[in-house]
Amino acid sequence: MENSKRKRETFSSGIAVFFATLGSAVGLGNIWKFPYLTGANGGGAFVFTYLVCILLVGMPVMISEFYIGRKTRKNAVGAFKELKAKPFWKSIGFMGVISSFLIMFFYSSVAGWVYSYVFKTLKGDFAALASQSMEQAAATVNQQFDAAVGGPVSPFVWQVIVMAVVSIIIIAGVRKGIERITKTLLPLLFVLIIICGIRALTLEGAVPGLKFLFQPDFSKLSPSVILSALGLAFFKLSLGMGTMITYSSYFTEEDNLFVTSAKVAISDTIVSLLAGIAIFPVVFTFGMEPGAGTGLLFKTIPLVFSKIPFGNLLLTAFFFLTSIAATTAMLSLLEVPVAYFIEEKEMSRNKAVLLTSGIILLIGILTVHPESIFGNVVIAGKGFFDLFDFISSNILMPIGGLLISIFVGYIANREDTENELSNHGTLNNRGMIKTYLNILRYVTPALLIIVFLNCIGIIKL
Ligand code: PFF
Repeated sequence: MENSKRKRETFSSGIAVFFATLGSAVGLGNIWKFPYLTGANGGGAFVFTYLVCILLVGMPVMISEFYIGRKTRKNAVGAFKELKAKPFWKSIGFMGVISSFLIMFFYSSVAGWVYSYVFKTLKGDFAALASQSMEQAAATVNQQFDAAVGGPVSPFVWQVIVMAVVSIIIIAGVRKGIERITKTLLPLLFVLIIICGIRALTLEGAVPGLKFLFQPDFSKLSPSVILSALGLAFFKLSLGMGTMITYSSYFTEEDNLFVTSAKVAISDTIVSLLAGIAIFPVVFTFGMEPGAGTGLLFKTIPLVFSKIPFGNLLLTAFFFLTSIAATTAMLSLLEVPVAYFIEEKEMSRNKAVLLTSGIILLIGILTVHPESIFGNVVIAGKGFFDLFDFISSNILMPIGGLLISIFVGYIANREDTENELSNHGTLNNRGMIKTYLNILRYVTPALLIIVFLNCIGIIKL
């Protein structure tokens, strides 16, 4: 086992670990999903609930996944075997593989919209906005979005392009592929979102936009809103499905797992909030619906840049960098089934990538446009797009998180856990470990169970 430990690559340094992990967390979840769910779920109270979920559920689960991954240096299924856990616990890994697929079915489709927007902006499809009235501009962005996602052929072609890009990067290997991209481009995206936010704050609708985002109106909370916030916390930080187990299996022995998790959670949350700050002022300036749904990002950002110098260039840069963030997040998503096929089914890396991508394209076509080709198919009140999202984010990932917190909190060897989290005694963080274990044992599982029971109506909050 020592041998296989050594053979596995590790990230080259602490900063590479941070950016690679952030590369998994930051993605369409921040820029596309956080704003659209915040809009659909009534604003501030949803954001508040989401932040509570990050703190009391997300971070403890993330640290637990880091512990499992770095200790075993295995993928999510192999990790539980390595820890000599009963076969039942391997189900976390299997559920993770399923969640990965479910997410990729719709994520690759939305990533395709983003890629296509890079080309639309280059073609000058939004150039007319500069001289249009507010009503005309709002109509233009709607038309452009409908044109981008409508019809079965073009969105599917973009989805194929997305999968080709992701597959090629994955085949190139962990270090070369992931480190290089995330280290250089994520900071650029961050800067651009800040520019976007500053511009949005100069719009007429800035104050109502910010109020919507930050002023909680708790009457808007319902069991399903709370479940969405919880699901978003898991989706955002890539938790409950083994992604972070697989990623941390490449961490170095020196990384401080608490610090890495805090840095990732805080940076990720800042990016989401900035995206909200960029988007909601536009919504209120142009009289749009905050609950406009999956198109919200695509209909608002072109308006942010429409009347400023170099607007079109900035718009292209925005969608380009968003496509990079989506791509790095997909690398981590794909890594879950790929690592599983390689390590548990002894497939070659190339074969595993091709098989995974093939399955994603085959089923992912169902989601290419939630309102068109397969839009009439409704299962349990949801189309394929929403169904895949709901099952992964709101059911499987929180269940995965619950099992992980129970496993680390109650089943795993306490001494082993403390040893790993203190980097074999080299960190002086006993108090921190204690607090973490208390939250993990008592608060995290309790909250998860309460939200679930509340949602299926067994208890009333
Ligand atoms: N966290 C990513 C995002 O917010 O876009 C999505 C994601 C990546 C979810 C990896 C799950 C995962 F394993």
